[in-house]
Amino acid sequence: MANSKYEYVKQYELDDSLLPGCWIVVRIDGKGFTKFSELHGFEKPNDKRALDLMDECAKEVLNEFPDVRLAYGESDEYSFVLGRSTDMYGRRASKIVSLLVSCFTANYVSKWAAFLPGTPLRSTPMFDGRAVCYPLNSNLRDYLSWRQADTHINNQYNTCFWALVKSGKTPTEAQATLRGTQTAQKNELLFNEFGINYAHLPEQFKKGSVVIRRKTMVEVKRREDGTPVLRERNLPTVLYTDIIRDEFWSEHAHLLAP
Ligand code: GTP
Ligand code: MG
Repeated sequence: MANSKYEYVKQYELDDSLLPGCWIVVRIDGKGFTKFSELHGFEKPNDKRALDLMDECAKEVLNEFPDVRLAYGESDEYSFVLGRSTDMYGRRASKIVSLLVSCFTANYVSKWAAFLPGTPLRSTPMFDGRAVCYPLNSNLRDYLSWRQADTHINNQYNTCFWALVKSGKTPTEAQATLRGTQTAQKNELLFNEFGINYAHLPEQFKKGSVVIRRKTMVEVKRREDGTPVLRERNLPTVLYTDIIRDEFWSEHAHLLAP
């Protein structure tokens, strides 16, 4: 039977290529992770094991896709930045988003046991994904600043909330205590009532995770006498650093290069 009779259906596949010359940001987010984290007994408000697993999956995305320049993650989400001039998969949104999501999710499952030993995976982790285009460098920086400010706000609130709940308050009482409080008041509450100095909490919790490629010495083989042979490689590396300030961008100027 001649296949040409059916070929017209291809016309229904619409072009979904992302605007040329713009930064592409793909943000992925865990589906129903409030429930997922309960089910797996994640430490509240931050479980380092789960965050490290997220960071490792993001590194694998950078390993797999050279066009991803930078990633930023917090909680159950990660944003991946592709260069303005990338031609990865003809900039087709569905192709890029679906591949990044499946790369991340597959790694999340395969690396789970290494990061949460003794905690069986009891449900299927899933991530949604979307691609957004940003025309200006300043838009991209504002986007990333928005996510990092969100990390800080959420972390500070959640640290207070769970300290109050762990001390015996009900969730409703804890919410009422925190309603309308400013940053300084939350820090005071943590220090005065729980002896927690917010500034001393892990940077990963306060700032989220930034993944960039960095020159790293790695062992490529061993000589017969057992001494290691080291070579420089550009490897994805996780940093817990401030990406709102200018210093990060001047220190890593190549990230914003065309
Ligand atoms: P959808 O994304 O809309 O499907 O819902 P969601 O339940 O995933 O909520 P959302 O993405 O807005 O928020 C992420 C949720 O993941 C948080 O509310 C937390 O409950 C949970 N979560 C993420 N990381 C941790 C963690 O380290 N510890 C704990 N206890 N919970 C976490
Ligand atoms: Mg989620």
